[in-house]
Amino acid sequence: MRAYANKMPKLNFYQSTKLFKRAQEVIPSATQTFSKGWTQFVQGATPNFIQRGEGVFVYDVDGNRYTDYMMALGAISMGYAWEPMKKAALRQLDDGLVFTLPHPLEVEVAELLTKTIPCAEMVRFGKNGSDVTSGAIRVARAVTGRDKIAFCGYHGWQDWYIASTVRDLGIPKFNKELIFEFKYNDIDSLKKILEENPNEIAAVIMEPVGLIEPQDNFLAKVRDVATSVGALLIFDEVVSGFRMALGGAQALYGVTPDLSTCGKGMGNGVPISAVVGKREYMEYFDKVFFPSPSVGKPSPWLSVKQ
Ligand SMILES: Cc1ncc(COP(=O)(O)O)c(C=O)c1O
Repeated sequence: MRAYANKMPKLNFYQSTKLFKRAQEVIPSATQTFSKGWTQFVQGATPNFIQRGEGVFVYDVDGNRYTDYMMALGAISMGYAWEPMKKAALRQLDDGLVFTLPHPLEVEVAELLTKTIPCAEMVRFGKNGSDVTSGAIRVARAVTGRDKIAFCGYHGWQDWYIASTVRDLGIPKFNKELIFEFKYNDIDSLKKILEENPNEIAAVIMEPVGLIEPQDNFLAKVRDVATSVGALLIFDEVVSGFRMALGGAQALYGVTPDLSTCGKGMGNGVPISAVVGKREYMEYFDKVFFPSPSVGKPSPWLSVKQ
């Protein structure tokens, strides 16, 4: 490790350090999100601020260039400053970004998603992953009349989910009694939750794939078990969507959930997300509260013609 460290070029972080000190005065933890914060990176070996990106490369505020393996925490799939997207964005700026009525692109993109994602018969757009996972959970609760959730993976910053973590300050305690974690590739851990909470689980929500692949038909088993207890199966494809396959992990592994969410893999950095699913469940969005008022139109980049 030391030998490797000795070979690393000595980088200058002068501007980074200066900005970091200023940020500490006006931004709690000097970051807008925990995962980008200084606690997550080796100080002295990584910069604190990125100025710009191009393809797979990013440049810090001191002009050092890096290959970015994390790609904006998974939000960038087509590369930074991707040319067709830049052109589409500029075209859209000429027209205006948000209106009082829906924009035709909402229909066009919704239709495209129903043709692309196996479970998608209807679509609602949001602005980030937490919007749409929370919308899906609200619908599952409305459909089933139940409150409890079984989950596997990370699903955003809202109370219903963060109650399951140790970073639960500020979250009403009752949320903790409503959420139960099962282990990936361990169907018995899910069955146990369902047995201990008979007729109470509204949704089984999970990332269908993460760092490890499903083994031994795990996804199909989850599908069967959720159906057998009358819970909705939600695939959180905020990261895997459009990435593992165009139709997401559900297309790749051939297991169709009731509802599904996508976000990061969808917008190449634009704040856009979607909850999609079977018509009989999606129609509940007529009844539950799920506003997305500033989504004037879903990502113009999605209709990019190359
Ligand atoms: C699988 C998954 N779901 C939901 C979210 C929440 O998305 P956002 O941070 O855009 O609200 C994330 C974010 O990392 C995620 O990885």
